[in-house]
Amino acid sequence: MDWGLQNRLNRMFSIASHNSVMLAVDHGYFMGPTRHLENARATIAPLLPHADALALTRGILRHAVEPTTSTPIVLRVSGGATILKDDLSHEALTTSMEDAVRLNVSAVAMSVFVGAPHEHESLIHLAQLVDQGEEYGVPVMAITAVGKELEKRDARYLALACRVSAELGAHLVKTYYCEDFGKVVEGCPVPLVVAGGPKLDSDRAALDLARNAIDEGAHGIDMGRNIWQSDHPVAMLKALRAIVHDKATVREALDLLEAEKAHPSPRASAATA
Ligand code: R5P
Repeated sequence: MDWGLQNRLNRMFSIASHNSVMLAVDHGYFMGPTRHLENARATIAPLLPHADALALTRGILRHAVEPTTSTPIVLRVSGGATILKDDLSHEALTTSMEDAVRLNVSAVAMSVFVGAPHEHESLIHLAQLVDQGEEYGVPVMAITAVGKELEKRDARYLALACRVSAELGAHLVKTYYCEDFGKVVEGCPVPLVVAGGPKLDSDRAALDLARNAIDEGAHGIDMGRNIWQSDHPVAMLKALRAIVHDKATVREALDLLEAEKAHPSPRASAATA
């Protein structure tokens, strides 16, 4: 692996735990102003100091994040479909590698739609993006099973989608936790991070998900709604960090969450940051 590419990858992962806590705020690219992400700047600001990387589009990066940040950026570079259409898989690359380099990002990310109507296009786009990433030293993260493909979220499907992504050259893969997640890990030769998916019933359920994913071989999380749609987003992010980096049990993470709730970071305080 080229030095620059390896260096960018290393920025996102802890040297001690080999894991990463990525904060995903890229949902607007196909969902529009999702609940609690209407004002992206206000949502991101209090969370940013506690994230190992921030995943978003170039539009929100330029408008909602100060260039003084030292947090590594994972830039979503695919899009072209919205929730108003039945077929979310009709995506293409929306951002050039030159712009990604201009933005000094640590990785680029795109969705792959295995089994969906535009499976072929998304996989070819992934291969092309990897060629560009190798040329410029920028890691590529493949994102499996966005949108309707989530309905197929089982180990057999996710193992296929993750392995295909790695075979096409993805340097890391974002996927979903599922029963028998170890089989997904076993078949994927590059690091996996897990998304949280739609807001779960409780903070505890999201902490459980993260604990199980790490225990079964994930190298971290790339989580959004279960953090910033929580009533206590900063506390939630800190509790997740304890799980991902510090081997905390869910009980210990919940205790940390409760302690952090006693010293809340109000959303509003971020609006001017
Ligand atoms: C899809 O909208 C994006 O890839 C998200 O970044 C991904 O789904 C992670 O966010 P969440 O934890 O909210 O699912």
